[in-house]
Amino acid sequence: MTSNSSRVSAVVGLQWGDEGKGKVVDYHARDFDVVVRYQGGANAGHTVEVQGESVVLHHLPSSMFQSSATGVLARGMVIHPETLVREIDNLQQKGRFSEDQFKISPHCHVVLPYHRQLDGLYEEARGNDKVETTRKGIGPCHGDKTSYWGIQMKDLLHETRFREKVEKCFSWKSRLIEDVFQESPLEPEKFVPSYLEYGQRLSRYMTDTTNYLQECLEEDRNILMEGAQGTLLDVDMGSYPYVTASNPFVGGVCSGTGVPPASLTDVEGVAKAYSTRVGGGPLPTEMEGTLLQKLREKGDEFGSTTGRPRRCGWLDLVALQYTAQINGLDSISFTKLDILSSFSELKVCTEYQYPEGVDPDRLGYFSEEILEDVTPEYQTFDGWKQDIRDCRSYEDLPEKAREYVSFVEQFLGVPIRRIGVGPAREEIITRDPEEINT
Ligand code: IMP
Repeated sequence: MTSNSSRVSAVVGLQWGDEGKGKVVDYHARDFDVVVRYQGGANAGHTVEVQGESVVLHHLPSSMFQSSATGVLARGMVIHPETLVREIDNLQQKGRFSEDQFKISPHCHVVLPYHRQLDGLYEEARGNDKVETTRKGIGPCHGDKTSYWGIQMKDLLHETRFREKVEKCFSWKSRLIEDVFQESPLEPEKFVPSYLEYGQRLSRYMTDTTNYLQECLEEDRNILMEGAQGTLLDVDMGSYPYVTASNPFVGGVCSGTGVPPASLTDVEGVAKAYSTRVGGGPLPTEMEGTLLQKLREKGDEFGSTTGRPRRCGWLDLVALQYTAQINGLDSISFTKLDILSSFSELKVCTEYQYPEGVDPDRLGYFSEEILEDVTPEYQTFDGWKQDIRDCRSYEDLPEKAREYVSFVEQFLGVPIRRIGVGPAREEIITRDPEEINT
């Protein structure tokens, strides 16, 4: 039994990823002993900016750039060893990596070259209906995991076992790649030696993280669970098939770490002040033309993992209401409000109109085919046309900006405890619970 006096907080994305979770986790890290990534893999790109220096982390928890918290890659993650080793090397060169404060679950599944190749081939086979994945092998790796063909980090520690598992899997993957897709797979001899080397390099960090986290709970240590991607990309909760293969929503915390649900003390959702999506699938409030160009450029809305331009849209409160509900939020961090500063008029979607004869109750409100066809209804707000990057309290914000934030807060019924007003770590407004009326 745990003593229940640990603080176990989760930070989850409420939209389609890229909400600025890295900055929020970095902000909180000093209050936690342990920061855990519970799902996703190299598809994530969490940007942390400290004193003008910025780093994009794909596997490592965002806290690892600057805090002394122990970083954990829990069993729900999928790992591309080469990318992880590069990330560790990079932080080591900057003098920001502590060997003793990093742990990897031996149960994380390993992304292999054929996963990445198949990710691309499956995408091509979809023709005009591409998911537009990051092509990091995430879907095929999870596919092997759930069809019992997966290879785990612990397998990299035993040469014979690793070789046998790869050979078995490769015997039919290679036929799929050659016979069905008419491509050449990378032969095991070309990648097995380097994977074994990465395994040796990473072995010192491997430990049973489920057990470790139980010990942390028993010792009343504070744990922060860092979500990657966003709730609307969740394989079960998002608009399938335009999703990622894991569970970014709060439900993924327990399955990805082994920490029991009752240990979770609070859930913070991260939402950007507008919507973005990278990849295919519905985005009901999507913008076009000059408005899109302006928002994309101002917000630097280009993928941090792939560099792809992100699709942009107005804030969608119908979608946020759904994700706030299923995550059971205690608070929200509302990011990138500064990006909206130069717009004279802002819109917020408060309702969807469904085409006649379409029954969302039957098909599911956030099903792909339903979202594709909805017409958003908007409420319009005056913009504030004033730089807000120096604002450090809610009262410092222009009245029109406060109206915008307050409307979102009232609509969702969840306190907005933090407001991002710039990319740097200090460019954030924190509000005490007493000053918030929801
Ligand atoms: P995958 O995770 O690479 O399989 O991609 C599936 C979908 O999730 C695609 O639409 C990707 O663009 C999207 N996606 C995956 N990771 C991220 C992320 O970290 N931020 C935003 N979108 C992501």
